[in-house]
Amino acid sequence: MAHFEKATSVKDWLNQRLAIEKVEKVMASEYWIPKNINFLWAMGMVLMITFILLLVSGIFLLMYYQPNVATAFDSVNYTIMREVGFGWLWRHIHGVAASVVFLIIYIHMFTGIYYGSYKKGREMIWISGMLLFITFSAEAFSGYMLPWGQMSYWAGMVITNIFSLGGLHLDGLVEWIRGDYVPAQAFLNRFFMLHVLLLPLAILGLIGLHFAALRIPHVNNQDGEEIDFDAEAQKYLAGDKKGSKVMRFANDFMSKDMMVVGIYLIFFFYLVFYHYNFAMDPVNFDPADGLKTPAHIYPEWYFLWSYEILRPFSVNIGLIAFGFAQVIFVLLPFLDRSPNTVPANRRGAFGIWFWLLLVDMIVLTAMGKLPPEGAFSTIGLVAALAFIALWIALPFITAKEKKL
Ligand code: HEM
Repeated sequence: MAHFEKATSVKDWLNQRLAIEKVEKVMASEYWIPKNINFLWAMGMVLMITFILLLVSGIFLLMYYQPNVATAFDSVNYTIMREVGFGWLWRHIHGVAASVVFLIIYIHMFTGIYYGSYKKGREMIWISGMLLFITFSAEAFSGYMLPWGQMSYWAGMVITNIFSLGGLHLDGLVEWIRGDYVPAQAFLNRFFMLHVLLLPLAILGLIGLHFAALRIPHVNNQDGEEIDFDAEAQKYLAGDKKGSKVMRFANDFMSKDMMVVGIYLIFFFYLVFYHYNFAMDPVNFDPADGLKTPAHIYPEWYFLWSYEILRPFSVNIGLIAFGFAQVIFVLLPFLDRSPNTVPANRRGAFGIWFWLLLVDMIVLTAMGKLPPEGAFSTIGLVAALAFIALWIALPFITAKEKKL
């Protein structure tokens, strides 16, 4: 058993039992971050802040929300929006954050792809990030069910239908997931549980894994330069702060992050107060009706690109293409065969691949929102095929890349 000295202060008492000074050094004041990074590296912190906004606003909404098919719609659209003081504010914060979080996730992901931050020992950062993306997607989908409006009901119907796996007709599996033949009370109850308990817990755990995965390989930098963190940290601690290539996570990096977070929050609250409607589908202001199918059923904007990969094909091929789109990003660290860690613009064909993928996903998103008719469905088909072709080509073009 460890020998405990008489503690001289509360901090000393805690330190003897929890090694708080050591933890603080490892995770904050001696956690070294490269100086050569730009504002895009603040997106991780912006995501953390948005997640906290979602948690806090969600807790307030939970005080009045009722997970019951007869009362859910009114508990949101009447009680929270009209009766409870500032209920509308918490709902707008929650709705806007749920939409904006995906914009930031996509910026964060494409920053990682552009700078090759998934390579050489950083694979676990990428994989935990993709698990976060998938869990956030499930969290957003389950949350969308809760107001029990027309789009909740019909999107719930369409998405759970996917689990019948087309020609395999696994209808029993669909009913098992729904707890009924159609979305009803059992369905709402379980998506409520997923949304407020299981998935947030999984997200918290995955954020922990994401941060732990960052600690050993360290954060990447704008030139993909291999930094000797120990030597640069010694330089910094010896007083040569200017000459060192690194800075402390706390408070150097945090203070830079907070500047970007501040600008983000102005933009965020501008949306909350003046443009919250973009995050709310008008169709979902009609209560769920299992006898009235809406003219167009489409998911929220952040799922449109993968929806458009499913839609232009026949059921079975569409499902295979959709499955491909869901897992392929996770495999990126293994599909990119080049050892180069420089940014995409210095990697020849990979640079072109990067911009083609980005533009293709924007086109897929735009087409996913439009009805699948005429030119839109042709453009959607071409963009879906291009998405698949780009990923199949990736190992070949990166294997050919010259070592820089
Ligand atoms: C949604 C919750 C997420 C949170 C809270 C989060 C948080 C963070 C933070 C704080 C950092 C360090 C600073 C920075 O580079 O921004 C980081 C880095 C990173 N994240 Fe995430 N992240 C999330 C999702 C994702 C997703 C979806 C991906 C994509 C697969 C991803 C991939 C990465 C990568 C590759 C890095 C390393 C960047 C580098 O080394 O330069 N993250 N993340």
